[in-house]
Amino acid sequence: MTSGKCRVAVLASGRGSNFRALAERCQDPTFSADVACLITDDRSAPVVAIADAFGIPWHAVPAAERRGRLQAGAEAEIVRICEAAGVGLVVLAGFMRILDGDLLVRYAGRIMNIHPSLLPAFKGLNAPKQAIEYGVRIAGCTVHFVDASLDGGPVILQAAVPVRDGDDVETLRSKIQAEEHRIVARAVDLFATGRLRVEGRRVFGADD
Ligand code: GRF
Repeated sequence: MTSGKCRVAVLASGRGSNFRALAERCQDPTFSADVACLITDDRSAPVVAIADAFGIPWHAVPAAERRGRLQAGAEAEIVRICEAAGVGLVVLAGFMRILDGDLLVRYAGRIMNIHPSLLPAFKGLNAPKQAIEYGVRIAGCTVHFVDASLDGGPVILQAAVPVRDGDDVETLRSKIQAEEHRIVARAVDLFATGRLRVEGRRVFGADD
């Protein structure tokens, strides 16, 4: 364990581009955080191979049959893994299961999520598709603290992405993801260096 650095657990179930971006940023010895572990509900997800490539430990927790849910006891298991690894911050980066129990309590105020829209627009699944279908000209992404609401916790950082005539869901998604990679690392650094202060819905300390 590297002393003085904030140890981050990333929860992810997918491609893992945000996990990779954060792991790469954390390779800088002057960066304020380290990726302590990956926690996934899908041991065949591409993100697992990325963790292996970086030599980052990963843990699989059981998903439930019911879509979007973990099995009973899995959230408590996530808490145990995080506490054993000395984790100070949990980052949800494409974790496709709802958290509504032990982790939210134990890590209250220390869980962030990255969402591919300018919240509160386009909550839930397939936000870039929602943005294209709605016809917005400005899309983007949000890093926010997680509470029990759906994509509803206090906003830490946002980045805007213009929607051009030639964009479709995939081109927009990839432009949004480039911004996600930048702001997720920045949000982790702001948290790890103790610069964020939450008052109600507002998060202070994230001005550039
Ligand atoms: C990202 O678009 C993030 O906003 C959403 O899930 C996606 C994960 O992508 N929550 P990746 O697995 O990090 O590439």
